[in-house]
Amino acid sequence: MHQLRCEARTIAFVPTMGYLHEGHLSLMRLGREQADILVVSIYVNPAQFAPGEDFEAYPRDMQRDLDLATSVGTDIVFTPDDDMMYAEGFQTYVHPERLGKGLCGISRPIFFRGVATVVTKLFNIVRPDIAIFGEKDYQQLVIIRRLVADFNFGIEIVAGPTVREADGLAMSSRNAYLHDDQRRAALSLSQALQQSQALVNSGERDAGKIIAAATRHITSFDQTTVDYIVIVDPETLEDLTLVDRPARMALAVKVGSTRLIDNMVLGN
Ligand code: PAF
Repeated sequence: MHQLRCEARTIAFVPTMGYLHEGHLSLMRLGREQADILVVSIYVNPAQFAPGEDFEAYPRDMQRDLDLATSVGTDIVFTPDDDMMYAEGFQTYVHPERLGKGLCGISRPIFFRGVATVVTKLFNIVRPDIAIFGEKDYQQLVIIRRLVADFNFGIEIVAGPTVREADGLAMSSRNAYLHDDQRRAALSLSQALQQSQALVNSGERDAGKIIAAATRHITSFDQTTVDYIVIVDPETLEDLTLVDRPARMALAVKVGSTRLIDNMVLGN
């Protein structure tokens, strides 16, 4: 990587936890278009999983991932192991404050500390000019933008739009956990978001009413448990009571034991 930088070639970076799907590949294609060299990392980061979460079960298929990453023109696939990322004695973490406390931070209190720490390490190792993150993990994207500004990384963060299955389900490696009936229930997330967009477009401004309607829709499906449904300012992630300016609706729902997240823009 040092050699490439000396040759003044630009580097785009897509960090992933593997089990690649079309959502990841779309981020890689964006990176491919915007820089001379495309680096992808594949690393299931233990620091962002709490005890009892799905670290061990997280789907992995390195050979398939390497083939897919290569198929979209990735130049370098970086596959560190735990000894490299968290060598004995490791004890320094990057801890997002306010932005990491709400939404997913409530039920996953160490998650964003793990993400910010590993992304900081990956940025320092890869030294990209551009890094691409998916809008599907919207809170993560906002936190990474903050991290880059706060730590003067000088990296341009590019957001890739959420890629969806034909029926609207946001692509996620965790969709692999869903049984057929749960797959149907999982559709309630994107449906609720689309219905919320339609409500706003027809003039509804009361965030409480929009959230109540979305909650009713999702909980009408078997095996769904709402973790949160919020309408927030797109940058501060503070709750909005009125949708009278651009807003993000974000939600996390357990379908069976699989926790899924999704989000959409509301308003213009
Ligand atoms: O979004 C992900 O896959 C992960 O949170 C990331 C950014 C690769 C850090 O482990």
